[in-house]
Amino acid sequence: MREVLTSELVPGMVLGDDILNFTGQLVFSKDFVLTDKAITRLAYYSIPSVIIQDDDTEIKYEEIKPIEIAPPPAFEESVHSQKVKASPNFQKFKKEFEENLESFKGSINDIVTLNKPIDPDALFAQTVNMTTFSDSSISTMDMIQNMREYDDLTFAHSMNVALICNVFAGWLHWDAEETKLVTLCGLLHDIGKLKIPDSIIKSPNKLTDNQYKIVKTHTIKGYEILKEHSYLDPHIAYSALMHHERYDGTGYPLGIAGEKIDKYARAVGIADVYDAMTSARVYRGPWCPYRVVELYENEGFQKYDPEFIITFLENVVNTYLHNDVLLSNGEKGTIVFNNKAFLSKPIVQTDFQVYDLSKETGLHIEKIL
Ligand SMILES: [Fe+2]
Ligand SMILES: [Fe+2]
Repeated sequence: MREVLTSELVPGMVLGDDILNFTGQLVFSKDFVLTDKAITRLAYYSIPSVIIQDDDTEIKYEEIKPIEIAPPPAFEESVHSQKVKASPNFQKFKKEFEENLESFKGSINDIVTLNKPIDPDALFAQTVNMTTFSDSSISTMDMIQNMREYDDLTFAHSMNVALICNVFAGWLHWDAEETKLVTLCGLLHDIGKLKIPDSIIKSPNKLTDNQYKIVKTHTIKGYEILKEHSYLDPHIAYSALMHHERYDGTGYPLGIAGEKIDKYARAVGIADVYDAMTSARVYRGPWCPYRVVELYENEGFQKYDPEFIITFLENVVNTYLHNDVLLSNGEKGTIVFNNKAFLSKPIVQTDFQVYDLSKETGLHIEKIL
């Protein structure tokens, strides 16, 4: 047995212990053979490390092997990703992101440590400036997805969430004021994390129950910081407080449900989970939006505002309509139709036949080409 960081797990490793989530529910049991999807799920639950069975791993793997189709080789960059990274607009976006990251860190530290006032207009202007580099061929979502070397738990994550919120507001047809507000809500949602000791936030070890409890207080701590700034729209502080609440009442810190959760917090919550899921892909090789949608489907849509989650995921997959994809059986094809009832399972046309992935068990999109 040995402890392995979630970022270093590879499919085929066998769990040496049960894995529980924040609320003590079983995520995977001992002896489970890790798959690509399972590892992403561990990262999604912010489980930093797990116990892995060592010497007898191979025997056990052979015994339990026929679970899922082997994932593609990790770290192989898709042509789509290479295309994004090579574009001049992405280079401009990256430069802007790096500059903004530094000034954002400065202003957030000023708020948290010196209680200095925030300039919401300046923060918003910086964020919106980054969205101007997207065009019809490369979306802001694509840009974020290719900026993963800056992935961190608070600053780059908050900027990503703000950008996603900004795009999301457009999909929801929100007006300019609402769009500005949700972007700021996204930017400041995790500000309370700066009040959590680094030893916990950056701990490479599995957090104890008590440490998890402390991490969860970032919601209340964020609310307390932001409500001191009475010139800010109150939705900004509510979003810090409620972005981990879930529509079915299973979230924290209040456990409230449905429309009782602030409208902006409901949107930020979706953008937040999306960023967590997609950033976990950095360890897993090619990112595929359809697999991210599948993760939401597995989690259960009831956790999110129904109108918001459908709008969000439909728009994520619609970006990839008519894109070429690689299927898990090795065939290449084109997405010809997105299935509204099963967003992660569109209809794909290959040279030989048309696959309705909602009817093909075991066949899925491996990556966007
Ligand atoms: Fe959070
Ligand atoms: Fe967050």
